[in-house]
Amino acid sequence: MKVFRHISQIREVRLQNDNCSWGLVPTMGFLHEGHLSLVRRAKSENDRTGVSIFVNPTQFGANEDLSSYPRDLEKDLALLEKEGVDLVWTPEPDDVYPPGYRTYVTVDELTDGLEGASRPGHFRGVCTVVTKIYNVFQPHRAYFGQKDAQQAAVISKMTKDLDFNIEVIVCPTVREPDGLAMSSRNSYLSPDQRKVASTIYKSLSAAKELYDNGERNAETLKNIVKEIISGESSLRLDYISTAVYDSLEEREHLNGKTLMSIASYLGKVRLIDNIIIG
Ligand code: PAF
Repeated sequence: MKVFRHISQIREVRLQNDNCSWGLVPTMGFLHEGHLSLVRRAKSENDRTGVSIFVNPTQFGANEDLSSYPRDLEKDLALLEKEGVDLVWTPEPDDVYPPGYRTYVTVDELTDGLEGASRPGHFRGVCTVVTKIYNVFQPHRAYFGQKDAQQAAVISKMTKDLDFNIEVIVCPTVREPDGLAMSSRNSYLSPDQRKVASTIYKSLSAAKELYDNGERNAETLKNIVKEIISGESSLRLDYISTAVYDSLEEREHLNGKTLMSIASYLGKVRLIDNIIIG
C-alpha cells in the first residue's frame, strides 16, 4: 500500500496504473466497519482501490467539531493495509486549500433542506473536496455510504451534472448490533449516551413498520418517531423528514421510494440516520 501526502505523488501512481480500473473511497478517517464495507466493495469491483483520508475544514461550520473531530491516522492506515488498499492520499489542509484558494462547487435545491438547512455551507465544502479528490484520483467508481443519504444524493447529482466519468455507488448503512448507524462521531458518546443512541434507529424502524402495515400519512409516521425520541429526555430532535428518495422533495402522502431521515442531538453530539421505506 502506498501512502502519500502530495497530489503529484498520487497522480504518478495513478498514471502508472492507467490501464486498471480504479475505485475510490473518500473518507475523513477514524475508520470503522462502515468505511471498510465501502473499501471491500471497491476492491471487489475494481483492479485498484484508492482511499483519501482528510478532515475537510470547508464542510464544518464555525461552531462545529472540526478541531475535536476524531483522528487516528496510524490505526486507519493499518486497517487499510489489512484490506489490501493500493493507494492512500493523506493531504494536509494547505495541500487541498493552498493560500489564495478561491474556487468552490455548489449544488442547488438538493442542498436546501435537511443537513443543508441545519449546516449552512456544509455541502459546498463536501462538493468542493469531493471534486478535488475525484480530480486527483480520476477513479472509475466512487463509493459513499447510505448513512449520509443527502450527501449521497448531492454527490450523485454533482457527478452527473458536471459530467464526471465516474459511477457513484451508494452502499448500505452498517449498523452496530443494537441498530445504531456506525459513525466516527459515535466515539464522542459516553457509555450512557451510547445506550440511548440506539433509540434513533428504533424510532425509524417503528415508522417503517407502520408504513409496511399500510400507513401512508407522513405526519403519522413522523409522530411515532417523535413519540419514541421524546421518551428519552437526553435526545433532542433537530429534524425529521419524509422525502422522495432521489429529489429529496418533502411528501405528506407517501407513495414510492421514500427517504425517512432524522437528525438529533444527544448532549452536544449530533447524530443522523435514515431508513428507506416504500
Ligand atoms: O462522508 C464523509 O466522510 C465526507 O463528507 C467526505 C465525503 C469524505 C468529504 O469530505
